[in-house]
Amino acid sequence: MADYDYDVLVIGAGPGGYVAAIRAAQLGLRTACVESRETLGGTCLNVGCIPSKALLHASELYEEAASGKLAKLGINTGAVSLDLTAMHGQRTEAVKGLTAGIAFLFKKNKVEWLKGHAAFAGTDTVTIGDRTVKAKNIVIATGSSVTPLPGVEVDQKVVVDSTGALELGKVPGHLVVIGGGVIGLELGSVWRRVGAKVTVVEFLDQLLPGMDGEVRKEAGRLFKKQGMELKLSTKVTGVQVKGGKATLTVEPAQGGASETIEADAVLVSIGRRPNTDGLELAAAGLATNQRGQIEVDHQFRTATPGIWAIGDVAPGPMLAHKAEDEGIAVAENIAGLTGIVNHDVIPSVVYTAPEIAGVGLTEEQAKERGEIKVGKFPMAANSRAKTNHEPDGWVKVIADARTDRVLGVWMIASVAGTMIAQAAQAMEFGATSEDIAYTCHAHPTHSEAVKEAAMAVTGKPIHM
Ligand code: FAD
Ligand code: NAI
Repeated sequence: MADYDYDVLVIGAGPGGYVAAIRAAQLGLRTACVESRETLGGTCLNVGCIPSKALLHASELYEEAASGKLAKLGINTGAVSLDLTAMHGQRTEAVKGLTAGIAFLFKKNKVEWLKGHAAFAGTDTVTIGDRTVKAKNIVIATGSSVTPLPGVEVDQKVVVDSTGALELGKVPGHLVVIGGGVIGLELGSVWRRVGAKVTVVEFLDQLLPGMDGEVRKEAGRLFKKQGMELKLSTKVTGVQVKGGKATLTVEPAQGGASETIEADAVLVSIGRRPNTDGLELAAAGLATNQRGQIEVDHQFRTATPGIWAIGDVAPGPMLAHKAEDEGIAVAENIAGLTGIVNHDVIPSVVYTAPEIAGVGLTEEQAKERGEIKVGKFPMAANSRAKTNHEPDGWVKVIADARTDRVLGVWMIASVAGTMIAQAAQAMEFGATSEDIAYTCHAHPTHSEAVKEAAMAVTGKPIHM
């Protein structure tokens, strides 16, 4: 029998990897986690979910105060000014606290942190610098990084990716965002709220591909109302940087006359791609698929026995909670338990104001599969949202016309990111729209809109 250093070696300490490592250790397996960054937590904690939410939260409060919205509630602030250095300071503090928290959890659970870049030297062997380790099981959780736009060079000064956009040292006069997906809209919102003019250039005819059609349309309307300029069905063909400014050349997606746009900063946010460079997958008998991902079965086993893959590097949505759930499941499978992730019920949230969230099938996907019933309820008719001056948005419940089983729930609401959890839980339990409609919801809460949308599936909301 081979002499193993570890039962489980996890490569990458993002939400997939660190969670897998902690669960494996909790299950009594000798576990180590390799990470090439200086701090644990991966993209999500270092340059993703957490710093972006720190800026989203602060910029939302700033806009509320600066726009006079607080004054309408009887709160007079006097002159409101922006201290961008302090705003960045609380962002870095949030990141520091949470990444250090993972280091604490590693210690507490006896997960060994191996610092450096991992590369396969065999199916059970990995090198980290000049060190070679052998493990019975290896979990690839190397995550993803920004997809470059050919011909557009990211200098992190004028042309930035999401990491650069989190750290801009001054508010750009005009920020042009290339790609109207989640990153473009979240970070575009941050900089618009603190004073930038923001133009979003999106290749497709609507924002947020993959989301429900009605949500995409309404999102476009709301972002325009907030002052973002949207250039849909438009492609960027070049970006020239000169004297600290950028000139973008754009043209209709289908081709046609080009025009130029001047910008003080350009954010490239056209998607992310799996990280496998320098991992020497071939030494492990592995290859990537056409999308650069490592294929796995439903237990997260790759084609090579003993090697597993989870998170952004494996197929499925590139979301932290998907990676985390796969991290728990893979550790349980390695330990001989049954780790399962229901990929049909993974919520997605855009943390703008209002928030945009969905789980399950879009209305378009559901229609393709059979007859459906749809119930919708506006936030303007929800007492709590109305009282809080948050009238934008609605909740939509999509159910199977024959069985009434809930197939998808989509919503735009100030706290949609929190509300979507109940929809996911209902779907995980196989709920019907009637089950939701007859569940007692506390009053007054935004969540009552989910109940009323479910009531609307059979035509019986009370407050509309
Ligand atoms: P990652 O978090 O990418 O972690 C992989 C780690 O592996 C990295 O730290 C990397 O350094 C390390 N690594 C890679 N290769 C090697 C190697 N060979 N050796 C050693 N270490 C290696 N998702 C959400 O669900 N909600 C959000 O609000 C959200 N916001 C986001 C905001 C931004 C700006 C960005 C960029 C992403 C956001 N995401 C969000 C996506 C989320 O960050 C990812 O889905 C998540 O981090 C994926 O986790 P992971 O563990 O698969 O990989
Ligand atoms: P995305 O896939 O969400 O959006 C990219 C957008 O760019 C799409 O709308 C696409 O049509 C457009 N596009 C592609 N090429 C283009 C071009 N040449 N010109 C103009 N538009 C172009 O990718 P994004 O926003 O970069 O985010 C990457 C991933 O990170 C997301 O898919 C998501 O999984 C994750 N993420 C999740 C967040 C959350 O959960 N709140 C927040 C931020 C990121």
